[in-house]
Amino acid sequence: MDPSQVKIPPLKDLTIDNITENVILINSLCEDARMKYVLERLVTHLHDFARETRLSTKEWMSGLQFLTEVGQICSDVRQEFILLSDVLGLSLLVDSIDHPKPEGSTQGTVLGPFHTHEAQEMTAGDMMSHDPQGEPLLVLCTLKDTNGKPIEGAKIDIWETDSTGHYDVQYADRKGPDGRCIMYSDKEGFFWFKAIKPVPYPIPHDGPVGRLLKKLHRHPYRPSHMHFMFEKEGYDHLITALYLRNDPYETSDAVFGVKNTLVVDLGKVDAELAKKYGVPEGTALLTYDFVLVTEADSNALRDKNSKEALDKLGRKVKIVNGLPIPDLD
Ligand code: BEZ
Ligand code: FE
Repeated sequence: MDPSQVKIPPLKDLTIDNITENVILINSLCEDARMKYVLERLVTHLHDFARETRLSTKEWMSGLQFLTEVGQICSDVRQEFILLSDVLGLSLLVDSIDHPKPEGSTQGTVLGPFHTHEAQEMTAGDMMSHDPQGEPLLVLCTLKDTNGKPIEGAKIDIWETDSTGHYDVQYADRKGPDGRCIMYSDKEGFFWFKAIKPVPYPIPHDGPVGRLLKKLHRHPYRPSHMHFMFEKEGYDHLITALYLRNDPYETSDAVFGVKNTLVVDLGKVDAELAKKYGVPEGTALLTYDFVLVTEADSNALRDKNSKEALDKLGRKVKIVNGLPIPDLD
């Protein structure tokens, strides 16, 4: 772009007090209204952060060094940036904003870095874990809409660790996917499978995020849980997990993912269920009724929440494609 054609004042002699407005001004050449708004807010908060903390050059250099190391340790099977977002509470915050759940529907939680796209499709009743040390678990679930109508044919991605608290991708010598599967709900919205009882485990803490936790005197543990992801056209994509009650880390999850409605009590398989599902009586039993919200309801709730939150901040916005931009009309 020819600088003489741009209606921007000369960017010179910028100070602590006027640099922010000038950076925003030059960025405002951007034609994408949403990107312009996001950058405007990002620059404002970053600059305020530096001003409020009186950030030193040395501190900022160590911050940049830290972020460099976060990037350097990332690989196909290690996503340190997701971990960083998780331990800072940002992952949970973004999910809560982007996928609001009305009363009565299943709440979402953090995805984490261990979901893969290579899980095998399994049929009802299959065993998803091949860890002989794991305590057997029978899982019986239903999937319904907010009116109680069964949802048939939803794709359900399920993943958990082995009995030592490691996901398959954490083993360099793994032969293929394990502790994960894809299933589809039946006509009654029912799906069931065999698994192992989840155990607590530490998030990967041998990298920069682990060092950060240590410095903050925070432990790296997640409470015992099993992940579920639901996809069905017309419904809001649900990423969630079920947590076992009374886990030692139930109230101090390193990534802030636990919600009361997602905490379950395990039961025991009785004689009737044992016969019906072909497992020994006394096997640990997990039952849960998941409820999906329609995409239309979720979108409407997100728009309403956005308007209300930004009204409270005194910002005049309009919602375009589900996201706020300044309302300049
Ligand atoms: C997980 O539950 O798989 C997870 C979530 C966040 C960070 C690390 C692991
Ligand atoms: Fe997990």
